[in-house]
Amino acid sequence: MKRIDELVDLDESRVNVEVYTSEEIFRQELRDIWYKTWVYVGHESELKHPGDYKTSYIGLIPVILSRDEDGEIHGLINRCIHRGTTVCQSELGNSQFFRCEYHGWVYGNRGELLGTTMRNGYDPRELARIEKGLQRVPRLASYRGMIFGSMAEDGEDLIDHLGNAAYFIDRWADQSPEGELELTKGVWTHRFQANWKLQYEGSDEGYHPAHLHRVAMQSFAKMAEKTGWRHPGTQPERANATNLAADLLHGHSILGAGGGLLARDPEDVQPPQLSPLYPESYLESISNRLDGDAVKLADTFNDWRMAIFPNVAINRNNLRIIRPIGPALTEVKQWYVHAAGAPDEVNTAKVREEEFFYGPAGFGSPDDFECFERMQEGYKAGSWEGAYPWSWFNRQSMRSWSGPRGERCAEYSAEVEVFAMYHEWKKLMSAALESGS
Ligand code: FES
Ligand SMILES: [Fe+2]
Repeated sequence: MKRIDELVDLDESRVNVEVYTSEEIFRQELRDIWYKTWVYVGHESELKHPGDYKTSYIGLIPVILSRDEDGEIHGLINRCIHRGTTVCQSELGNSQFFRCEYHGWVYGNRGELLGTTMRNGYDPRELARIEKGLQRVPRLASYRGMIFGSMAEDGEDLIDHLGNAAYFIDRWADQSPEGELELTKGVWTHRFQANWKLQYEGSDEGYHPAHLHRVAMQSFAKMAEKTGWRHPGTQPERANATNLAADLLHGHSILGAGGGLLARDPEDVQPPQLSPLYPESYLESISNRLDGDAVKLADTFNDWRMAIFPNVAINRNNLRIIRPIGPALTEVKQWYVHAAGAPDEVNTAKVREEEFFYGPAGFGSPDDFECFERMQEGYKAGSWEGAYPWSWFNRQSMRSWSGPRGERCAEYSAEVEVFAMYHEWKKLMSAALESGS
């Protein structure tokens, strides 16, 4: 395998396609990225009540988030301590116990082993050798309802990992009159045969939509003609000076931060653009809570999306988790987002806006998945030693500028924000080599 240095060329904004195909790289990513940094696992709104649980993954590791009777959320490894069977199969639910089907051992919702079956058949010394419960995710932390887990005992705090992204997560959660978002219970799950990084890169890329998603754009335009409703993604201001892309550092990025949050000139800041699908009272309910800070508000109503390294992509009204399964197999789960305290008609409108583009019958997501698989197919040329090795991300890299929080900002159709992840990827993947492990 080539050294990490040769695989990611930060000066030229390009990566060797081996990063998408190599089994060895995939294994190293698990060790140095997925089991080192903070990984999004769930949302507090999915675990509102004592006994609520949710299953998720950190890299390949199956985990359970479980809220106990005292309200504390635990991160448990979904692996029976006896012979390794997963003890919880459901995506979401409520239970005081997790019972392993194989030999019937029972665990409490804090992960403690409550009982073994046919106990008399054991010599007590045999049982004494076994751990007292499910293993735990070493660190669990939340920010504005988003729960992250880290498999590393030590490391930077979540807030430091989020860095500039925290500012934008605040703007995201502020679209709720109560300052809290809720993930709806329905989830769309999809697998595609390509590398996980392709979905992460594609989550906030502003270059391809006009080409790959041309049909969606034409449909939006027809809808606007017929109904007067304009999808935020087709606002005429889309490509103006206030609608930008940015590498937020730490591998995170944002696209279409409308309203001027990244604008070079405060004069460029736009007033909030309320979707005609929302009643005026919605805007008022948010204004009240935020003391009418128009700049903050503006970002909640425009078309934007953000990627938080390494596995979560959010926009105003949906959230997606990216799960690596193999070098060429990935799963994406998507939830719609409701604003707590908003009228039902607002939350319904939010789903209507998103389902048009995202989801199994949407006009956007299926195009993307098809393209990811075509890219992975193209990378097979890399098995020939004469193959061209690079994938390029250099659009507008020479025209970027430093934003108010140190972000690398660029115009909407840049690839600066897409390449953002490779700065962090390279740092983490090089760290172990440098320390000699
Ligand atoms: S594997 Fe779980 S009880 Fe045996
Ligand atoms: Fe897309």
